[in-house]
Amino acid sequence: MIRVIQSAKELSDVVIFNRDKGYSIGFVPTMGALHEGHITLAKKSKRENDITIVSIFVNPTQFNDKKDLDKYTRDLDGDILKLLPTEIDIVFAPTAAEVYPDGEQAGQEIDLAGLDTYMEGKFRPGHFKGVAQVVKRLLDIVMPDKLYMGQKDFQQFTIIDHMIKTLGIKTTLVVCPTIREEHGLAMSSRNERLTKETRAKAGIIYKTLQTIKRNKSKKSIAELTENGLKKLNIPPFEPEYLTLVDGYKLTPVTDIETSDYVVACVAVWADGVRLIDNIIVKK
Ligand code: PAF
Repeated sequence: MIRVIQSAKELSDVVIFNRDKGYSIGFVPTMGALHEGHITLAKKSKRENDITIVSIFVNPTQFNDKKDLDKYTRDLDGDILKLLPTEIDIVFAPTAAEVYPDGEQAGQEIDLAGLDTYMEGKFRPGHFKGVAQVVKRLLDIVMPDKLYMGQKDFQQFTIIDHMIKTLGIKTTLVVCPTIREEHGLAMSSRNERLTKETRAKAGIIYKTLQTIKRNKSKKSIAELTENGLKKLNIPPFEPEYLTLVDGYKLTPVTDIETSDYVVACVAVWADGVRLIDNIIVKK
């Protein structure tokens, strides 16, 4: 049985009770519309901790596009059913009033050292301020030993890692590999909104990233990105950006050979849906 808790105070009390018994706490934050990627994170947390908590909260402050927020799938019962086989302990499904008792502006001032200005940050202004705000608030409530996030949201976990370190939060971030659909498309709640045909063809995004990685020593960065963008610019796909960045600073790299950590990141539109993916080119 999974216990469903809506109150922040009740959740914190349950966590403190379990901590006093010496139990470790694993935490998977989600916005629901769960897929195999989330389930994999939940299972990993279950294996590595005594108590696993999955939060389901569609955070309004991270949506720069109100239409995207309205369209977001909400199906708490369906999500709980999907989690049942994982045998996690608690689903935390708070209301916005529980998460933001002092209003949605409170807690948005976390310093992200400019990491929120590149890539996704450029096209989704304010998005990462909202993500950092909600993750900080959830960490305050859940107080987990380990926090589980997927590699698909590369910029997101890099920013959360920065926040955890700079604010001295006593939680270890565990990043798990991207789970992919049969044709290579990175799993995302948004994939449901693609047509069947687009979904089958969308493996081109990951294939393009793999080609970049394969050719990293043979071609210049300009050639790698130019060729990649050409490959991706075939309807219904429309690339928004394709860039090779320093994995720590998120700034564009100018030379792969002299960089320690290089990640190729991409955002592509298809059927009115924005898809992101990445590959570690060098680490
Ligand atoms: O990745 C997500 O689903 C969200 O950005 C997160 C981390 C749950 C915060 O709302």
